[in-house]
Amino acid sequence: MKTIKTQVAIIGAGPSGLLLGQLLWKQGISNIILERVTGEYVLGRIRAGILEQGFVELVREAGVADRLDSEGEVHEGIDISINGHRHRVDLKQLTGGDVVVCYGQVDITRDLMEARADAGLESYYEVSNVVLNNVKSGTLPSVSFEQGGQKLELLCDYIAGCDGFYGVSRQTIPKHIRIEHERVYPFGWLGLLSDTPPVSEELIYCKHERGFALASRRSATRSRYYIQVSLDDKVEDWSDDAFWLEFKKRLPADAADALVTGPSIEKSIAPLRSFVCEPMQYGKLFLVGDAAHIVPPTGAKGLNLAASDVATLYKIMTRVYKNKDTACIEQYSEIALRRVWNGERFSWWMSNMLHKFDTTDSDDVDGQTFKRFMESELGYYLGSENGRRVLAEQYVGLPYEELK
Ligand code: APR
Ligand code: PHB
Repeated sequence: MKTIKTQVAIIGAGPSGLLLGQLLWKQGISNIILERVTGEYVLGRIRAGILEQGFVELVREAGVADRLDSEGEVHEGIDISINGHRHRVDLKQLTGGDVVVCYGQVDITRDLMEARADAGLESYYEVSNVVLNNVKSGTLPSVSFEQGGQKLELLCDYIAGCDGFYGVSRQTIPKHIRIEHERVYPFGWLGLLSDTPPVSEELIYCKHERGFALASRRSATRSRYYIQVSLDDKVEDWSDDAFWLEFKKRLPADAADALVTGPSIEKSIAPLRSFVCEPMQYGKLFLVGDAAHIVPPTGAKGLNLAASDVATLYKIMTRVYKNKDTACIEQYSEIALRRVWNGERFSWWMSNMLHKFDTTDSDDVDGQTFKRFMESELGYYLGSENGRRVLAEQYVGLPYEELK
């Protein structure tokens, strides 16, 4: 068996693992990434692309923001449409200057992969049988894995589990320690990507009697649109024409008239889930991003919560290696989870207000009360400047917490 060594072993080359690796390297902390699939496969996964300011600054700190700064679109507001009537949430004005940046997750991932290759940092792709050893024993941890039929062992000081919802890292925390909170939603999002000019400069979140829809974008020539669908629906049930027809019905009339349709480049259905694993640290193992938590996409918090975990772990690792302060690792879970729960709550709140629920709250007697509560909730928040400010403050993202 071949043995290799590093300071921080990173499991997973998604945005969490790649960003963490780059930041650690900038501080002189060595790291090796292990990834189950190929780089091309990772880049084939279409995800959201609304970045909070904290995320953008972190990518700048990692020295990988050239393309993000030149090609990312600054969005100063969003529209929320209720049965065709638009309400603008002026993020910039309401928050005293904060905005979000529209730049696809695939693009960030590609930038980070290229920067890692340029820096000559080691990554092992297409690995299998990844096992995390000694994460909470007196001896140093290690990760055993296989690549191309060869068995390898990676010796390290710490392990960052950045391996997504289906990874092995979370499962390494013993069941009696791990608490998993979960809520599933009775619908999914059908997403369509197309090389058509987007229908709007800013995102339009649409609450509609027929169900939720979202008009998003990737660039001036690429659109990303979504509609709420039943969990029983299959992508094959939805031709491009059927998608466009339904999407148009849920948009405000002026947007529906202006909509340019075209063939899809990608089309997929994603279920909606709220999930949090506590704690996020166990011995020398830290869970980061989707490995520890999932949010429904309403509000675009998935990638941004991954980034705040990375920011916290990066500060901790820097203190560990620069100041020889190992006690600070105990702060990770508490700091990360505070922000995670807020993001979870915001995404759940937005999802509740904007979707059509066929199955109602089990406490409803008439089957309509939850629906009416949510209509009133959305009406209140959009109708009051204070309400819009609450929404705006969370959409642009709360500040990252410092270590004690
Ligand atoms: N060994 C090595 N790598 C693994 C393993 C394993 N056993 N299991 C999974 N992986 C890899 C996956 O192939 C994937 O490339 O870990 C990576 C995890 O990446 P993501 O799922 O993108 O998770 P993360 O980096 O935390 O990014 C969070 O992605 O899902 C969105 O909404 C989410 O935008 C957010 C972002
Ligand atoms: C996207 O562009 O894919 C996107 C944007 C905002 C969301 C969800 C998804 O809330």
